[in-house]
Amino acid sequence: MSLCFSFNGFTLHSTKGQRYKARIFSQCINQGQVISIPNSLSFDRFEFSKSFEFRRHRFSPIGASATTVDETTSSSFRNKNPKDINIVVVGSTGYIGKFVVTELVNRGFNTIAIARERSGIRGRSSKEETLNQLKGANVCFSDVTDLGKLEESLESLGVPIDVVVSCLASRNGGVKDSWKIDYEATKHSLLAGRKSGASHFVLLSAICVQKPLLEFQRAKLKFEAELMEEANKDKGFTYSIVRPTAFFKSLGGQVELVKDGKPYVMFGDGKLCACKPISEQDLASFIADCVLNKDKINRILPIGGPGKSLTPLEQGEMLFRLLGKEPKFLKVPIGIMDFAIWVLDSLVKVFPAMEDAAEFGKIGRYYAAESMLLLDPETGEYSAEKTPSYGKDTLEDFFDEVLREGMAGQELGEQTIF
Ligand SMILES: NC(=O)c1ccc[n+]([C@@H]2O[C@H](COP(=O)([O-])OP(=O)(O)OC[C@H]3O[C@@H](n4cnc5c(N)ncnc54)[C@H](OP(=O)(O)O)[C@@H]3O)[C@@H](O)[C@H]2O)c1
Repeated sequence: MSLCFSFNGFTLHSTKGQRYKARIFSQCINQGQVISIPNSLSFDRFEFSKSFEFRRHRFSPIGASATTVDETTSSSFRNKNPKDINIVVVGSTGYIGKFVVTELVNRGFNTIAIARERSGIRGRSSKEETLNQLKGANVCFSDVTDLGKLEESLESLGVPIDVVVSCLASRNGGVKDSWKIDYEATKHSLLAGRKSGASHFVLLSAICVQKPLLEFQRAKLKFEAELMEEANKDKGFTYSIVRPTAFFKSLGGQVELVKDGKPYVMFGDGKLCACKPISEQDLASFIADCVLNKDKINRILPIGGPGKSLTPLEQGEMLFRLLGKEPKFLKVPIGIMDFAIWVLDSLVKVFPAMEDAAEFGKIGRYYAAESMLLLDPETGEYSAEKTPSYGKDTLEDFFDEVLREGMAGQELGEQTIF
């Protein structure tokens, strides 16, 4: 039996280099566009590995503008045709990253998706599956946790990078993994991108970093600060920091349980927290806007979905309304979580290896009580009115879809927390 937290409650369930360069380049595969080899790349410069030769009939190498890094001035990319704008996406295989890649491809950008050879939750997707998920993008298999390797991968493309978009996130929210991915690997993507000419960085962050009580929030904030510092040092470099409210996947965990007759579980009176949920597609569209929109340059951008903010109580009522059932709630005192956290924190003092378990408890507690809304600096209170809205997908439509089709594609991360 394991205890799984979601934003608004919890569920109980049973656990049942030339030659050298060619080697790297062979890991980079274009699967959607049939583009001729750019001037900066030629077969006599590269000795393609066997695996690449094998794929050449299906995939052509990365297509991009023929300009070299030296010819590119730092902010000129915004005047270029989208097909000549080279965008690297890290975290391309995540819940949001996949939609961001599709959106950028649909907008005509030359999209280079960095991926691991086994991607997805617990590495469940093979290379071929990853290529299928990222159709239309040039997929480059590399390692964001290894700066040298990432730099080599980007250099091996032989084309300048204009923009880096990061949708990286720790898959489990553990203490060490948060610092490794939300800070270190994200920093690697900035450094490697800068080395290859990138003059704009779009960061997918989170609205909850406004009130940092958790390690992943501190890791994200440290990177945000260093990103802003980079733009301060170099006026030709810009950033957009996107801080969204709750994703649909984090709110859908109880839909199927309630459909099966279980009560809707919430903490306190169900009004402890609220959010303006945003869909993957709408958030991806907002992130893609950040590539060219000058009004999104050098800004922190909190963003929610359309409509009013919703408390867990309102989300539960919506669900019962859609099901045509009488509402049935289970209200859990928030003190239970405080007690669990106290126990876990005490155990960590004796068993340091339990630090992640304690952190997961704190993450659950945070999402049960803190709103995913803009924290008004004047009042110190969360403000639904001041949280900007974007997009068209509503939580009600999402719940309706999950009731009909299930939660496929909406799986939570490795610890089923977010
Ligand atoms: N859940 C919410 O409601 C919510 C709300 C606001 C903001 N956010 C923020 O949104 C961000 C993205 O969330 P998401 O749900 O799209 O994340 P996700 O699905 O967990 O995706 C994480 C991405 O990072 C990559 N990654 C993780 N560990 C890696 C490693 N060791 N090496 C290489 N790549 C690694 C993953 O690659 P693999 O596929 O290879 O694992 C994947 O592409 C997070 O920063 C989160 O805090 C979430």
